[in-house]
Amino acid sequence: MTKENSQPGEARASGASVADTLATDSRGAPPPLLQQQYQFLGDSDIPCSRYTSQAFADLETERLWGRCWQWACREEHIPDVGDNYVYNIGPYSVIVVRSAQDGIRAFVNSCTHRGTRLLGAEGVGFSPRITCPFHGWSWSVEGRLESLPARWDFPHVGDDSHDLQAVKCETWGGFVFINLDPDALPLAEYLDVMPQHFQHYPLERRRVRLHVQKILPANWKAAQEAFMEAYHNFETHDAPNGANAQYDIFGSYVSRFIHNIGNYSAESLADYPGNKWRDPPLTENQLLQSLSVFGLEQEEVPAGETARSVAAEDLRRLIGKALGVDLSSVSDTLMLDSIEYHLFPNMFFFPGITVPMAYRFRPNGDDIDSSIFDLMVLEPLPEGAEHPEPPEPFKLSVEQSYTEVEALSWLAPVYDEDTGNLDLQQQGLKASRKPGITLGNYQEARIRRVHLTLDEFLKE
Ligand code: FES
Ligand SMILES: [Fe+2]
Repeated sequence: MTKENSQPGEARASGASVADTLATDSRGAPPPLLQQQYQFLGDSDIPCSRYTSQAFADLETERLWGRCWQWACREEHIPDVGDNYVYNIGPYSVIVVRSAQDGIRAFVNSCTHRGTRLLGAEGVGFSPRITCPFHGWSWSVEGRLESLPARWDFPHVGDDSHDLQAVKCETWGGFVFINLDPDALPLAEYLDVMPQHFQHYPLERRRVRLHVQKILPANWKAAQEAFMEAYHNFETHDAPNGANAQYDIFGSYVSRFIHNIGNYSAESLADYPGNKWRDPPLTENQLLQSLSVFGLEQEEVPAGETARSVAAEDLRRLIGKALGVDLSSVSDTLMLDSIEYHLFPNMFFFPGITVPMAYRFRPNGDDIDSSIFDLMVLEPLPEGAEHPEPPEPFKLSVEQSYTEVEALSWLAPVYDEDTGNLDLQQQGLKASRKPGITLGNYQEARIRRVHLTLDEFLKE
């Protein structure tokens, strides 16, 4: 029961598409959200060993993590000169420093004397000079070697031969990005359509409301892939929608999904045998009730309106008032939908207002079977307001539940469901006799895009 499909990747679920929904919304979407860009990228299996082999992970350490752009922190983590942020990725460690009011620099977190790590645990710190805890060599926030005890014994150390090792560092959307490869592409090129798209919903005008960091029991790729498709919505979340999500691939580094919230198409469920949401179809009032987790005040959908339009309007008012921002002209889709951009290899940015997250997935040290998942909730800032200090991350172990973070509210059980299959998947990938995993041509195309770009990085 699918729409016309002559070529692989052309088939779509029945019922209203995201484009159909956006076209009938009460307030129109910004142009980037009306764009559609999908490309069939092949249908061969992806080897399980990419998730389970130590040799593959070692190659990633050298050729991926040593070469790709990745966000280390938010600019507001380091507002004043001397503020720093230690960011760790696999075996690497980088110090990001506010070196001037309008300057941010990054350095390898290693002493140029005998290699000692200069700053300890990941996270924020302050130090107007960076001093090694071993013999006390010390550097300015610009990375210049300024003090070398017993200078007489080091005639072979030149004026600038032992400055801190600089790491490429650029900013976008309020995030500080680093790249350990001195020959890396400029960040702007790597970001592709992102700056153009996000000018409609600038992330630099957001504040970090909440930061949760959890250890997940799966390889970093399996962990992030659980968040790249809505195909799992029915089985994992028992949700009534998701079949019609839109998937876009904008290039080697950027992809997106748009998943409508607050509407549904019984037709789209035809291919999900036994789905309880199909018969009888949900009414607009029932759809509105399903959004009660958002704390809506409206309980009924007036004749001629939709649950989406009623919920979007209620949220404009409620969230606008709570945050002190004017949301009166924000489109229904930005108010309601799960809109998720992925930036290679491991970053996600959500332009939405009610679903306003940023994610990052990375290896947990050298353990190929676990990963670190950073989740930030990024709320719009009132016009002219300064960024407040970001909160410390809540740290959750593998065993802990997201429900221990009260501020996550209705999202907590959803994240528990999303991450609840990861241990099973990681174990199953090791047990499989079938050498690879199989992906859907459309709904799981973003996952394939990441693997193809990963291949480019791992070459040579
Ligand atoms: S190892 Fe850093 S000062 Fe000696
Ligand atoms: Fe999910």
